[in-house]
Amino acid sequence: MITVKPAPRQAAATTEDQPMLSVEDLRVTFTTADGESLKAVDGISFEVRPGETFGVIGESGSGKSTLGRAIVRLLDPTGGRILYEGDDIARLKGRRLRHKRRELQIIFQDPNAALNPRMSILDSVREPLDVVGEGDRASRTGRALDLLDRVGISAEQARRYPHELSGGQKQRVNIARSLTLNPKLVVCDEVVAALDVSIRGDVLNLFAEIQRERGLAYVFITHDIGVVSHISDRVAVMYLGRFMELGPVAAVAERPMHPYTRALMSAEPVPLPSHLRQKRRILLEGEIPSPLNPPSGCRFRTRCPHAQATCAERVPDWRPVAPDHFVACHFAEELAPG
Ligand SMILES: Nc1ncnc2c1ncn2[C@@H]1O[C@H](COP(=O)(O)OP(=O)(O)O)[C@@H](O)[C@H]1O
Ligand code: SF4
Ligand SMILES: [Mg+2]
Repeated sequence: MITVKPAPRQAAATTEDQPMLSVEDLRVTFTTADGESLKAVDGISFEVRPGETFGVIGESGSGKSTLGRAIVRLLDPTGGRILYEGDDIARLKGRRLRHKRRELQIIFQDPNAALNPRMSILDSVREPLDVVGEGDRASRTGRALDLLDRVGISAEQARRYPHELSGGQKQRVNIARSLTLNPKLVVCDEVVAALDVSIRGDVLNLFAEIQRERGLAYVFITHDIGVVSHISDRVAVMYLGRFMELGPVAAVAERPMHPYTRALMSAEPVPLPSHLRQKRRILLEGEIPSPLNPPSGCRFRTRCPHAQATCAERVPDWRPVAPDHFVACHFAEELAPG
């Protein structure tokens, strides 16, 4: 089990502040090799608050990575808006886009994804600064070494090449690299999934410490509910391109309002205090349907144990069930236990 030291949160700052990022009705449609339209992200709206960790959970194929990549404009959204400091980054181009992008970074599951195998660790971490051309080479080297030191990579290790480091060390290097341009938000896409279980806790703790030191916001994407429940302030549950539920992590863990959330939470051993653990295991049967042809009405209905005729006919509204807690299910209140 992963144990992460609880991070003292800036409670007032994370709940009351204006959002730093507002995603409005975001859509990303891919055209497959067969010419079909695949709606990987199909109308999602949420806000990220300064300094918070916004968790996104869901099974593989639900569109989490596509959402993360769209937020940092690694891919172009098909529709909707991504408002960041007054600009719609879904539409920005050229120099203004490059400038905003510095403040929005992403770290991937594969520790090798952002590291050039032919560049030393130091060169890889200094590279974003070299591109921007900030200061002289010596000061850029100094800054890269400081950041590497902060994530636990020594000056001696910094001279090595990626293949000479372990997966955990490389992920630490990626954290350092993502921080070089002082981002305000970092999308973390399954950042500990490829690491040995024994070191995941340490790397997650590092993420939490860095956040506290720098007041960073994270969008923390994972299929592992244990990870998200430890590190997040709020969590969104994603299924087939849409959010099913969104709320403070304690509220969602204590009283999940969507049948899909309950199934997800009962399927994994969530490291929660015993009184919060789900007593009964709800089996999530079958595969996630193809986003090429999602079910009508509620898209979870083909796997929902409570589906009724209405569920096939009407798309459930995205509606509040408690302060700051939203759900898309016609029968959320009557189905939720307790
Ligand atoms: N470049 C692409 N072209 C076509 N389909 C894609 C592309 N990227 C992702 N998809 C599809 O979009 C859906 C969501 O994928 P993804 O965002 O990777 O989900 P997750 O990260 O939740 O596993 C999947 O059905 C996937 O096959
Ligand atoms: S709307 Fe219907 S099918 Fe969808 S989660 Fe609620 S009960 Fe299940
Ligand atoms: Mg993914």
